[in-house]
Amino acid sequence: MKYADRVDRLAGEAADAWGLYVIAAQRKSEGQDIIMLSIGDTDFESPDVVIEEAYAALKRGRTNYANITGIQPLREAIAKRQARKSGVEITPDQVVVTQGAQNALYNVAQCLLDPGCEVIVPEPMYVTYPATIEGTGANLISVESRAENNFHPTIEDIAGAITDKTQAIFLATPNNPTGAVYTRTELEAIAELCKKHDLWLVSDEVYGDLTYENEHFSAISLPGMRERTIAISSLSKSHAMAGWRLGWAIVPEELAEHMDRLGLCSTYGTSTFIQDAAIVAIEEIPEGIAEMKVAYTNRRERFCNFLNNLPGLACRMPEGGMFAMLDVRATGLSAYDYAHKLLDDQGISTLPADAFGPSAKGFLRINMGASDDLLDEAARRIEAFEKTLV
Ligand SMILES: Cc1ncc(COP(=O)(O)O)c(C=O)c1O
Repeated sequence: MKYADRVDRLAGEAADAWGLYVIAAQRKSEGQDIIMLSIGDTDFESPDVVIEEAYAALKRGRTNYANITGIQPLREAIAKRQARKSGVEITPDQVVVTQGAQNALYNVAQCLLDPGCEVIVPEPMYVTYPATIEGTGANLISVESRAENNFHPTIEDIAGAITDKTQAIFLATPNNPTGAVYTRTELEAIAELCKKHDLWLVSDEVYGDLTYENEHFSAISLPGMRERTIAISSLSKSHAMAGWRLGWAIVPEELAEHMDRLGLCSTYGTSTFIQDAAIVAIEEIPEGIAEMKVAYTNRRERFCNFLNNLPGLACRMPEGGMFAMLDVRATGLSAYDYAHKLLDDQGISTLPADAFGPSAKGFLRINMGASDDLLDEAARRIEAFEKTLV
């Protein structure tokens, strides 16, 4: 049978790295002692008040179809939250509720990109971006974010990638996997480029509530950017609600109308009872789960400081998000070989971060969404593994 050419554009290039994850998960399911620090899960539970509201909503019979772009009270709650965080007026008509941030990224890409246009994305980038963007027929133009620059791209490199075919810049702040949080100054420079070249800016802010030294800043706040910025977020990370599949995009009203029509022929909206529960999450826990942020703050220091004292390793504390980046370049092993041997020797599953882009060559992405005890044990096992390398 013949498939659409598009299916080839949906295949990622990160197959080796994910292959390692699959091996680790298989070994764990067979009962081996494997510590999974590879995928972006968290050890925190979704908040009780939100779970209770989901039950109550089901009992109330909130099981019918909802508006495609979201129920009005949720759109109002999200608009209020975004306006408070960004300091600019956001109306409920600018809010499109989606099935997680991923669905928002996909829908936005479908509505903004044409075959042959170019989209600039700083790499390393979240692994779904290539398929999300290239699945539309657009070409993804990646821009380096050097480790020496704390994995922030330079404005010169971004400017140098712009051509007359460029349609949009996609970025994640904080970034997955590097944790880089764009500064206001960087975003001002990117915003100027967008205005000068008439580009969309798609700003993925799913880790926006999980920043450490610096507050998260959204480009949607900048003058002249509200009409060309799409700010995407979700409850997955901030509220430990990844499986609920509840996210949103803040968009210009006209794009909301396009996304309404796209939703009609794709998801047909988001579950009504989950939207009711999301209102409780946003109104009662507006900045995300506070204990989780405290736990990640402590973990990143404890875990990275321990590894930084080991010869041959350097562990970067993330500026935001939940991943530490372990630099194994001094060991002489590639990230893939290091991760493979670490799994075989000590039963620790990590991801070679160059699966997210070549700038992360020689780094492992380590998820800190595991209990303190488990992370301590992982650190000890990495120390034991290091001793086998000398
Ligand atoms: C940068 C980034 N964007 C989007 C997503 C997707 O999030 P959601 O669960 O809201 O679809 C993730 C998930 O890990 C992510 O890391």
